[in-house]
Parts: sequence; C-alpha cells; structure tokens
Amino acid sequence: CGIVAYIGSREAYPIILKGLQRLEYRGYDSAGVALLDKELKIYKKKGKVSELESSLIGQHLPAKSGIGHTRWATHGEPSDRNAHPHCSPSGKLAMVHNGIIENFAPIKKELQKKGYVFKSDTDTEVLLVFIEDIFINDAESLEAAVRIALKRIIGAYVIILLDESQPDTLIAARKGSPLVIGIGPNEHFLASDASPIIEYTKEVVYINDYEMAIVKPDELVLKNPGNERITPFITKLDMDLAAIEKGGYKHFMLKEIFEQPTAVFDCLRGRLDAKAGTIRMGGIDRQLDLLKEAKRIILVGCGTSWHAGLLAEYVFEELCRVPVEVEYASEFRYRNPVIHPGDVIIAISQSGETADTLVALENAKNQGAFIFGVVNVVGSSIARLSQAGAYTHAGPEIGVASTKAFTAQLTVLYLIAIKLGYAKGTLSRDRYLHLINELALIPDKITEVLKTAPEVACLAGKYKNARDFLFLGRGYNFPIALEGALKLKEISYIHAEGYPAAEMKHGPIALVEESLPVVFVATKDAYHEKLASNAQEIKARKGNVLAIITERDTLFEEIADDTIAVPASDEILAPLLSVVPLQLLAYYTGLAKGLDVDKPRNLAKSVTVE
Ligand code: G6P
Repeated sequence: CGIVAYIGSREAYPIILKGLQRLEYRGYDSAGVALLDKELKIYKKKGKVSELESSLIGQHLPAKSGIGHTRWATHGEPSDRNAHPHCSPSGKLAMVHNGIIENFAPIKKELQKKGYVFKSDTDTEVLLVFIEDIFINDAESLEAAVRIALKRIIGAYVIILLDESQPDTLIAARKGSPLVIGIGPNEHFLASDASPIIEYTKEVVYINDYEMAIVKPDELVLKNPGNERITPFITKLDMDLAAIEKGGYKHFMLKEIFEQPTAVFDCLRGRLDAKAGTIRMGGIDRQLDLLKEAKRIILVGCGTSWHAGLLAEYVFEELCRVPVEVEYASEFRYRNPVIHPGDVIIAISQSGETADTLVALENAKNQGAFIFGVVNVVGSSIARLSQAGAYTHAGPEIGVASTKAFTAQLTVLYLIAIKLGYAKGTLSRDRYLHLINELALIPDKITEVLKTAPEVACLAGKYKNARDFLFLGRGYNFPIALEGALKLKEISYIHAEGYPAAEMKHGPIALVEESLPVVFVATKDAYHEKLASNAQEIKARKGNVLAIITERDTLFEEIADDTIAVPASDEILAPLLSVVPLQLLAYYTGLAKGLDVDKPRNLAKSVTVE
C-alpha cells in the first residue's frame, strides 16, 4: 500500500491525490482520502486512484490537512468499504495504514465484547477502534493512546492519524513499513517513499522503526516508545522530478526498459575504469578482507531480485571459487537456517523495503552474519540495515515489473564478483582485464539490443494468444529463462514456466505440442551445442522454438522458428543482453492483449507485508 499525508498552508487534496498517483505502484485496488476542514470528511473508492479522482471532480475541497491511501488488499477484498482511510466509531479519527496487524483477531474479539461494531473486514479498522477505545478510557492524549495501542500490536505498520479535535496535528508511527517526512516552510509532507514529496522539498527525514512522529505545520517532533524526544536526522534527496515521470513513453515499463543503457552506465560510472583496469567501490573496498575470507556467500531476495541472486551464484562460484547459496527471503526467515560467523549475506532488493527480505536479514544479522546490501532505493530500510553495500543507481523504477533495476543489480553483482575474484587470485589478470573491458561495452550493446523492439513486437503479436509458454536456458542463461517466464506471467497473464533446458526432458516436455511457444535463451556459451540438441527435441515434437541468440549464430537460426539476435559478449555477461528481448516480449504481449502493463492485476511493486 502507499500512503501520503499533508499538513500546512496549501490545499491538501491536490497534493495527496498527485502523491497517491506516484505511489500507485505499491497497490491499486482501492484509494481514499480523509480531509479535515473543520469537519473530518472521508472519500474512498474501489479501483485505481483515477476512480477516486473522477468521483471528486467539481467538489470544493479546501482542507489544509489530510491523509490518503492506495491499497493492496491483505485483510478483506478490494471494495469501497475496505478502502482506507478508516473512520473511528466516534467519527472523529481517521487513519491510513500500510502493513499487517497479525494479532488483530483477538483484539477485535475484545472490542466486540465491549460492544464495538465493525464497518469493514480490515485489520486497520481494528487498530483504529482499539486506539480510540484507549483514548476515550485510559489515555490523556491521542498520542499516548497510540503509544499504548502499539505496544500490544504484533505485525508491521505505518499509520497516520487525523483527529478532528486537533486540526493542526498529524500523528504517525512506523514499524517495518517505510515512512518519509518532507519538510517545507510551515508545512510537512508524509509518504511511503520520497516520490510524492520531491516536487515540494528536498529536505526529508526517514522515520525509523518504533518511532512516532507528531507533525504540525511548523513543527516535527519525533519520539521513541519511551516517550522521549529524538532529534530528527534531516537528509537531502538526491532525485529529480523528471526521473519519476514518463518522459514521452507510453508506459513506465517501456521507459525503464529503454533506460537500461543509462542505468547500467550509471551503475558502472566512477566504479569501473576500463583503461586503468580498476574497479573501485567504496562499500566493497572497505570490506574486501571480510569478503575474501567469507566461508560462504548467501544471496537473499524475492521475485526478480532472487533471479539476480541465482545468476550471481553461478558468477561468484566461477570467478571467486566460494560456496554460494541463494535463498528466497520468505523461506530463509522461517527455516532456522544454519549461519556461521564467516558467512556473508548479500541482500538484493530494488525497493529496499520488501518485508520478507528485511526480516530475513534482521534474523541473520542477529545470528552474527555480515549483511551486505545491493539496493536501489537510497535510504530504504534494507539499505539502512546493511553493514556495507553498493547502491545500484538505476534511478526510480515505477513499472511494477522490475526491468532496469534487475540489470543494474546484475551489474553490481558482476562488479563485486570480478573485483573479489581478482583480489582472491581465483581470477587471472588476463581474464579480469577482459571482463572489465567487456563490462564497459555492455551499455552500448544494450542500446543495440533495444533496436530489436519492433521485431519483438511482431513476435508478441504472433504468440499473444498462446495459453502457455516455456522458457529454457542453461548455465548463466537459466536464471534469465526464469526471469523471462516471470515477466511474461506478470504482464500478459499467460502461464509461463522457466526451466533448466536439459531438465525439460523430465517433465515439461509432456506439454509440448504445436501451439506451445518455447523460448530458448541461447546466447553462445560452453553448452551451446547441448542447448541446440534440446531445441531439436522440442522441434521433433512440433513445438514452436523462439530463440534469443548471439548474432550470426547459424546453428540456432536453422532450428528455431523465430530468432532475436543480440551482440556477442563474454558468456558470463551475456545475461545482461539476453534478458532485454524477454522484457520487451512481456511488454509487447501485455500491450497486444490490451492490459495495463504498468499496473498488472493483483501485483504490487513494493511488498511490505509478508
Ligand atoms: C515484488 C515486485 C517484483 C520484485 C519483488 C522484490 O514482487 O513486483 O518486481 O522483484 O517484489 O522486490 P524488491 O524491491 O525487494 O527487489
């Protein structure tokens, strides 16, 4: 979910509405605002923020303070009733919430026994009623009531409360979900991330877990759970408005796919010097000894970030000869994993806020592991929890399906592996210099791959009615096969599976028939002939073979029904190229099917619930 709030001297509604539109990537099944202009008024609607906007056209909404929310449903179906903000029984308090209250059921029962009746199915309303009950019966102020209530709560949250009887105050609190507060002259902006704030101010305070903020137009007070004041730490935002707008592209996803040459270049800039043959990364250089001595590297992530981790497993084992494991954060956090003092955890996350990844890291850190973050969003929770790290510098990614953040993650992981392998002596100087040179060429090669967009769009038209897709690859291209399948699934709703190409014989081959498109991620590598044999096995059963190949690869050109060629590169780096046509395939297939590619159904970009 995404939350925005404003308090100050301007009209709150337009600021909140625009902010919600910027945060829509976090969820978009319903949206709402609560505005306070003498009286508290709540407006909410099922569906996207645009539906809320249409329902309020022509209304005079002069309130100078308000809270807003765009929802990704957890408890209770998407509906007007379950949309936020929620209103307390007295009608005087409104609240928005991002996160999950795990122990809402017993608290709800207690409150029902006291006679409270609930208007929605949400855990949020339970927390709000709980706060109001304490406020009326046991606390001297709303702030104190919030503090008492939160002590009972298990789960993750950011909440913001608006109180009719205190029109100049917003109360916010966080644990586990993100909150940033922008500071302007006689005004404050609160939001899940900085994107709703940057056009008004660059001065922000990131709120930490267990902190409460009491926000007035001209004052920001932060407190810890013991009711002691904390000095807010003000940081300057390093982001500009253009980076979060579409800039002439039809969709954010397309813009972000086309931004990949720049994203990879920005990621290499100041770090890789091909002429001098050096890689400089502050976060790595300072921890090089620790990394060299690591007994094991554990890569942790979710979704696309997990795929980056899977590829990094191949790369680190090859270049650094260190045992590597790749873990889904959601499994790792509950599995009681064995962690030794010499283990280094590399956390991979675009948003830096994914709840499963965050908690998995907290657990591992408590067990003595060293946490290294590969994160895109500066100042995010995972970035702050990491003991060292390297930002991916891909710029804001807004399309729900990750594209440029993935290639930037891979770039950082390659840099680390190449640097570490050379430092350990497991990578020869010749190969080290070769890889550095090849990596420096990648941005221009991605530009070349992007020229295949019209061809890919044609293929999307050809295959858009397929019921299923299979994506196959071996070695470094196996994680890319998984990523290609995930992208297609997310954006076009076509069922797609990624598989190691040879493993296909042990199951998925049963699905092969004339109507099944099988995508081979087939850039040239050590297994090329073997992969060609797998493609022959598909052709022998009348499947359609669509191959991503290295240019002038006559072997695959002969076997495949369709090919998309990418420039030659070192086999280890080829995934940075082979993934791009697969992103385009997902995009154009979704587009051909008339779907909302930037906001695919049921998904959210930043999953701050477990
Ligand atoms: C969600 C997004 C994916 C993303 C995953 C992990 O599922 O839709 O695109 O890969 O979360 O997110 P993170 O921000 O931790 O990389």
